Amino acid sequence: MSATTTGSRRVLSGMRPTGALHLGNYHGALKNWIDLQYKYECYFFVADIHALTTGYEDTSKLESNVWEMVIDWLAAGLNPATSTMFIQSRVPEHSELHLLLSMITPLGWLERVPTYKDQQEQLKDKDLATYGFLGYPLLQSADILLYKPALIPVGEDQVAHVEITREIARRFNHVYGREPDFELKVDKAIKGLGSKNGNQYKELRRLYQEKGDQAAIEKARALLAGNSRLTLADRERLLGYLEGTGRSILVECEALLTSAAKVPGLDGRKMSKSYGNTIGLREDPDAVAAKLKQMQTDPARVRRADPGDPDKCPVWDLHKIYSDAATQAWVQEGCRSAGIGCLDCKKRLSDRVVAEISGIRQRAQEYEENRDLVRGIIAEGCEKARDLARQTLEEVHQAMGMNYR
Ligand code: TRP
Ligand code: SF4
Repeated sequence: MSATTTGSRRVLSGMRPTGALHLGNYHGALKNWIDLQYKYECYFFVADIHALTTGYEDTSKLESNVWEMVIDWLAAGLNPATSTMFIQSRVPEHSELHLLLSMITPLGWLERVPTYKDQQEQLKDKDLATYGFLGYPLLQSADILLYKPALIPVGEDQVAHVEITREIARRFNHVYGREPDFELKVDKAIKGLGSKNGNQYKELRRLYQEKGDQAAIEKARALLAGNSRLTLADRERLLGYLEGTGRSILVECEALLTSAAKVPGLDGRKMSKSYGNTIGLREDPDAVAAKLKQMQTDPARVRRADPGDPDKCPVWDLHKIYSDAATQAWVQEGCRSAGIGCLDCKKRLSDRVVAEISGIRQRAQEYEENRDLVRGIIAEGCEKARDLARQTLEEVHQAMGMNYR
């Protein structure tokens, strides 16, 4: 069962606090979050425990990185009135669910996640031979499953983590969703729907089970989602019964692949902190203009009189993000005919980038000067997140036979 079909409009995503955000982070992920917050019920968190899995030795910058990122989010336009923002470690349910899920997670599943070997090879200077690093995707699964979201906006590199999350949910439901008196409880729950809805549910289930009728199962899910008299446990039973499994306690979700703009760094490679080719989200405007002047262009365009090819120029990739159609046409024409020089071309871009960064920088400054406000936003977000997380954990305890007090 997936959350999109249970009527959930919830979105959840996290970001590791790795220091000041740059334009790559902004156009690659954050801007997407900012759009989503007006369409979905959004939960965004600082994955500070995840930061530890790849860097446990030096935690001296962790705290400042956390707050710096939260301020970047706010300054860029995440709106606390529509998005719930919180810090992973401040909702201890993440850690507890991670531990409980680790009991049912086969080692092979974690060893086979592509990022496990990839990162170990790429980050040779780091000690990634730890239990915590192996468990990275499972911690992410716990992050996700606690909130029963429908969609997880992530980049390509994270899709495998969302997939393993679905597998973990399925395995959990399989192991703990079976009750000895399941059928009896299902019967009762169907009666609770009332005779009209109850009969419709049974008919839809038959259509799905006998004919694999996809429309029927969607309808049945909508029927359950729209019924406010159902208890949570009964809803899980009826959802599970639809598909022929036990109770469906943890909910499967889907990755929402972000149509991420390609953001080149100053040297033409992907913008990334590890390449040292970034433009910071709240960098000094003069420094930004100076950096852009130095930016790599089409290598074939050596002299002013040489025509260039924007498709071979990273400056053009930035124009695609920042410039309107008229400016883009001006670049295309002027570059190919050598009608404009690279400095003219960069100047137009630079004005746009600087305008954007100046706005973000100014708002960030206001938040910097009002740390209590920022702390308050996060405190409220943590509380709200915790309420949801607690509910799920309670269901998990119950399903695992651990609700003794
Ligand atoms: N692993 C993600 C990254 O590095 C961050 C993350 C942690 C995350 N938990 C998550 C993303 C849950 C989405 C959902 O980008
Ligand atoms: Fe790149 Fe612009 Fe120079 Fe063409 S004119 S090579 S697009 S910087």
